[in-house]
Amino acid sequence: MRENASEPSGERAPTVPLVDLPLLHRTIGPKILDDVATLIQTGAFINGPAVSRFEEAFADYCGTEACVGLSSGLDALRLGLLGFGLERGDEVVAPAHTFIATVEAVRQAGALPVLVDISEADHNIDPEGVKAALTTNTRALLPVHLYGQLADMRRLVAIAHHAGGIPVIEDAAQAHGAERDGLRAGGAGALGAFSFYPTKNLGALGDAGAVTTDDPQVAARVRALREHGKLEKNDHAIDGYTARLDTIQALALLHKLPLLDGWNDKRCSAAEFYTYHLSGLGDLQLPPVPEGSRPVWHLFVIRTADPDRLASFLAARGVGSGRHYPRPVHLTSALAHLGYRPGEFPVSEAVAAECLSLPIHPGISEHQLEGVVAALRLYFSSPRR
Ligand SMILES: Cc1ncc(COP(=O)(O)O)c(C=O)c1O
Repeated sequence: MRENASEPSGERAPTVPLVDLPLLHRTIGPKILDDVATLIQTGAFINGPAVSRFEEAFADYCGTEACVGLSSGLDALRLGLLGFGLERGDEVVAPAHTFIATVEAVRQAGALPVLVDISEADHNIDPEGVKAALTTNTRALLPVHLYGQLADMRRLVAIAHHAGGIPVIEDAAQAHGAERDGLRAGGAGALGAFSFYPTKNLGALGDAGAVTTDDPQVAARVRALREHGKLEKNDHAIDGYTARLDTIQALALLHKLPLLDGWNDKRCSAAEFYTYHLSGLGDLQLPPVPEGSRPVWHLFVIRTADPDRLASFLAARGVGSGRHYPRPVHLTSALAHLGYRPGEFPVSEAVAAECLSLPIHPGISEHQLEGVVAALRLYFSSPRR
């Protein structure tokens, strides 16, 4: 690697997309296609054997007794919450800085989202804020393992225990394989909700999701909910949905799961490269990683005063970037009726205003990483920026 990445090297600056799905599928795509061809011959499109094979493998990966495959991460959250028997008026405590689906799920389960600020320590829900938000109506905590880093699950589980044993439901959509203080995403609370949206660390070929849990009753209820409330054939005990994991997606996920740890390692190496080469650059703030935390770097999110300007600068040099997420959920129009106001959650608002996601994916090359670093150095050394 070049010592000074901002020096012109004579080499052409690489194009660096934020993610590169075609690259990821170059070798496994044909293998998945072979399995899909066989599936077409058998016709087992709904609840085919691949679905239960994947459920067993993913439960094993997360260290839980059960996994229930579902059609998206939103369904995993919504059905997961319903699996604990939430009722109208129940409160669910969630962070103000997350993808909107976290809070959508609470609303769709009929409960009231009670939002809490995130912490500067990890950009996840602040356990002290959670304590202050508890009421006699609190029925669940819903931390999000944002950007691929576990929330402080040891403290959150202890708080939930003191609050009468309410469940901690993990929004693990961005954190397949992440660990903190010896706990692993999906197995750290009462239930883990995963998305397999194609760009996730473990992604399908379309929409897919799953819940993981040690609780057989909750697993059985989610299983019923995903299929019209069916307990057994023609026995529909509760109102349900069509929210099953598609067999084609299960086939793809079965091919990808054995590769996940290697892919996560590559993301970690890219994150190390960025951390080493970007520290101390202008006003750039690196992502915080508390001791004991092993993030899987779904996203590498830096902070800077004018992220949109930096994004345009990078785009002009062939470097992709993204904003995750420029508006905290409490200031989202769809949730205006909850009555939250600007200024209420200062850390969430600051991170939303300053965040910029740099390219990170398992196939990113050292040449591409150097290109991103060189473009950032140029930006921060340029007087007119
Ligand atoms: C934190 C978080 N929660 C929930 C979801 C919802 O997942 P899906 O898009 O599969 O419904 C996502 C996915 O984008 C997410 O990032």
